Amino acid sequence: MNKKPIILGIESSCDDTSLAIIRGHTILSNVVSGQAVHAEYGGVVPELASRAHQQNIVPTFEVALARSGLKKEDLQGIAYTRGPGLMGSLLVGSSFAKGLSLALGIPLLEVHHMRAHILAHLISDNASTPQFPFICLTVSGGHTQLVKVSSPEEMKVMGETIDDAAGEAFDKTAKMLGLPYPGGPLINKLAQSGTAGTHPFKVADLKDYQFSFSGFKTSVLYYLRKQMEKDQAFIQKNLPDLCASIQSCILDSLFNKLDKLVKDSGIKEVAIAGGVSANSELRSRMKAKEKDGWTIHLPKFEYCTDNAAMIAMAGYYQYQSASFGKLDAVPLASMPF
Ligand code: KG4
Ligand code: ZN
Repeated sequence: MNKKPIILGIESSCDDTSLAIIRGHTILSNVVSGQAVHAEYGGVVPELASRAHQQNIVPTFEVALARSGLKKEDLQGIAYTRGPGLMGSLLVGSSFAKGLSLALGIPLLEVHHMRAHILAHLISDNASTPQFPFICLTVSGGHTQLVKVSSPEEMKVMGETIDDAAGEAFDKTAKMLGLPYPGGPLINKLAQSGTAGTHPFKVADLKDYQFSFSGFKTSVLYYLRKQMEKDQAFIQKNLPDLCASIQSCILDSLFNKLDKLVKDSGIKEVAIAGGVSANSELRSRMKAKEKDGWTIHLPKFEYCTDNAAMIAMAGYYQYQSASFGKLDAVPLASMPF
């Protein structure tokens, strides 16, 4: 089998249509078409997301192909996100993948979105590559997981959220502050000029490596309501401090469990992945752990939020082990890890 196969990656699990081409571990192109349509609704509207994927997928593929300098006939495998994600969105990517696979006579590769976030670390142009085994904190809009990664195939979820994801906690509290979707990056930005701990929010501390953010969300809501009864302009007057306090609470909770897992497992090779791994405070707090002997791996920014480069990277490993997909495989809104 060719040592450096050329794989097309297709990502359409949520509100980003992305196509990428990889040769071995080297990305030749990675194009992401976002969907501004959701901003005015304060969150992703599934029906609008699948319609936008329909409109974007062919032009995004054409740009990815042109940027790679290759022709369709050079592709050797097609990796697509089978799940987890929004069903209508997944259907667009999977149908496109199947059509192209049939037309070109090349295999399909069914990729798990959360595993792909982790495997993004193996793309060659990251600042560093984790050695196995490593611990990965995967934090996105839909998931919050602590994973022990023993090889590209062997991964074990050690703990996860029992309700909301960390990204959701950012986005929903941002909405309470009147910020547009997605609020995570805005909270991050505003927090830079605020003081953490100014406002008393609390996150539940569950057993083992479990997270919970739904009580935190409610505590922010009730606190804001109470303060606004006294002063309608409370949010405007306190926005940076509110953002810094929200951000530090979420990060404290993540580090509480990450610290525990590193200590319990003795594995000091540590990575972060998923959209929230773009958070500058999370990245600098991770860096600070080097003084405790941790070896830290921060993904390149374009591989944090949803992208098809990570899908192509995951597809590469499945191609090498001949784990090919099937034409009759249906997308899975919730896909076992
Ligand atoms: O991985 P991702 O692109 O999509 C999912 O698979 O969910 O993650 C999106 C999430 C959103 O909740 C977004 O607000 C959050 O990542 N996010 C951030 C930052 N950039 C993206 N959260 C905090 N700080 C950021 N800088
Ligand atoms: Zn994601």
